[in-house]
Amino acid sequence: MQNTENRVAVIILAAGMGTRMKSSKPKVLHEILGKPMVMYVVKTANKVAGSNVILVVGNQAEKVREVLSENYELIFALQEKQLGTGHAVLCALPYVPEYIEQVVILCGDVPLLSSSTVLRLLDDHIRKKRDVTLLAVEVDNPEGYGRVLFDKNMDVFEIVEEADASEEQKKIKIINTGIYCVKKKFLIDSLHKIKSNNAQCEYYLTDIIKIGYLGKKVVGVMVGTDCEEVIGVNNDEELIAAENIMRKIS
Ligand code: UD1
Ligand code: MG
Repeated sequence: MQNTENRVAVIILAAGMGTRMKSSKPKVLHEILGKPMVMYVVKTANKVAGSNVILVVGNQAEKVREVLSENYELIFALQEKQLGTGHAVLCALPYVPEYIEQVVILCGDVPLLSSSTVLRLLDDHIRKKRDVTLLAVEVDNPEGYGRVLFDKNMDVFEIVEEADASEEQKKIKIINTGIYCVKKKFLIDSLHKIKSNNAQCEYYLTDIIKIGYLGKKVVGVMVGTDCEEVIGVNNDEELIAAENIMRKIS
């Protein structure tokens, strides 16, 4: 694996409301084995990019900042209004150092992800000289996740969110983990092209895949084999599931 640490930054998205948790506590501070879930993600990010880690905060930003700044060296970016994951990354861009070439995007609500998986994704992305590489997995129950669509040549061309998917698309079992490696230049160009004309009226980060595909950029996907480490925690049930898995592996 190449030593890419110095040219890589990680952006962690952690500004969302976490409405589905039905709690006044910010979602990313919900605990897994006594530790706020976002801490696991920050630890993974530090292993990948050293101190080039930018955490996007918004919902109860001060609280999240307080909990994390005690323990980690981080750059905080504020997303004042939660307009979607694409908008969240846009808020982090001004904090990405000039010399950075590759940006890894992680979600604060995907706490079990290992640094070795992220490094494998990054290595694949750089070796294949892609503009964007997405981590996907095949799951038995894809409900709630974005579905990955392939063209007839089996090239990835779009991610469709559950809320926007047709009944046929909902049957697709290859899902977006919310983890990406993106060439910084392509990230900047594509983020400015995202629109919010979808079911949730949000700026979806996932749209960079279609923008890249249509713009003839090098877009690819790595289909991981471990469905457990990419579990996204959006509700209590998933929090318990994540904690059970963490107990098993730690
Ligand atoms: C997202 C992906 C979906 C993927 C899933 C994997 C989009 C549009 N969808 O869906 O394809 O399958 O993750 O777990 O990206 N956030 C912000 N600001 C915002 C909105 C969200 O920082 O304005 C943060 C949240 O705090 C969270 C992360 O982004 O940590 C993902 O947001 P969430 O609302 O959980 O997206 P999903 O519906 O899970
Ligand atoms: Mg989520």
